[in-house]
Amino acid sequence: MRIVTTLSEARQCLDALPRPQGLVPTMGYLHEGHLSLVRRARDQNAVAAATIFVNPTQFGPHEDLTTYPRDMPRDLALLEAEGVQVVFTPSVEEMYPPQGETVVSVGALSRKLEGAARPGHFDGVATVVTKLFHVMAPDRAYFGQKDAQQTVVIKRMVRDLRFPVEIVVCPTVRESDGLALSSRNAYLDTEERKAALVLSRALTRAQMLHAKGERTAERIRLEMLSVLQDEPLGEVDYVSVADPDSLDEQTCSGDGSLVSLAVRIGRTRLIDNIVLGCDTASHR
Ligand code: PAF
Repeated sequence: MRIVTTLSEARQCLDALPRPQGLVPTMGYLHEGHLSLVRRARDQNAVAAATIFVNPTQFGPHEDLTTYPRDMPRDLALLEAEGVQVVFTPSVEEMYPPQGETVVSVGALSRKLEGAARPGHFDGVATVVTKLFHVMAPDRAYFGQKDAQQTVVIKRMVRDLRFPVEIVVCPTVRESDGLALSSRNAYLDTEERKAALVLSRALTRAQMLHAKGERTAERIRLEMLSVLQDEPLGEVDYVSVADPDSLDEQTCSGDGSLVSLAVRIGRTRLIDNIVLGCDTASHR
């Protein structure tokens, strides 16, 4: 496995390898969710590459950039064991030259849901992913359904900027009790870890209502809120039943509606989602 830290090394190294090439962009502190993306990238391509970069521009001023969990030696060992050929681990200066001014902004999609709660977040994501695609030129790039809005924003960006890359979205990986894997789960203490199950419980309630024929999106939102309000450690940021492409809130839900939520458990903000008629919020 080659570990490269500069854009020119990354380009040179990938140019010498066969195609198709699959890229898994990450911020490190890898878990089974990331590894499921890596395995898919490895299975579908001649070469699997990954990036580890905690991207400062996608964190708000009061967010957890400085405390974001990191463990580079462990991450590299995991990627090597999965057969990744190239890992790009740039510095902040390598990705963001001094006095850089250019920002990629995907417009309205970036300002809904997570974008409303975290202004500027998706501009940071779109900008760094653009730089990675520009330099690493993957044939396919892999993202988790866990960050549903991120996948919608990136797909739109790829379409708008005509990037010749296929975006592959892989299912959310959950613990056996339903908690979606996230690097931020590391912040939860034992009591909060139990409380965090309220997210998957609320999503399961939505899926059950849908299975029973409920199609009034507001009823689904209210039922989810009532599940969430039963958890004293949880503070709801939003509950949404939205069109999966436009991310507009729906009046009538149906198969394919994106049900998502953000909840603070203590000081940790967690997100999760399901697609009605497709996913379950239990272990798979
Ligand atoms: O999903 C993530 O880990 C990040 O948002 C990404 C796509 C690596 C961009 O920094």
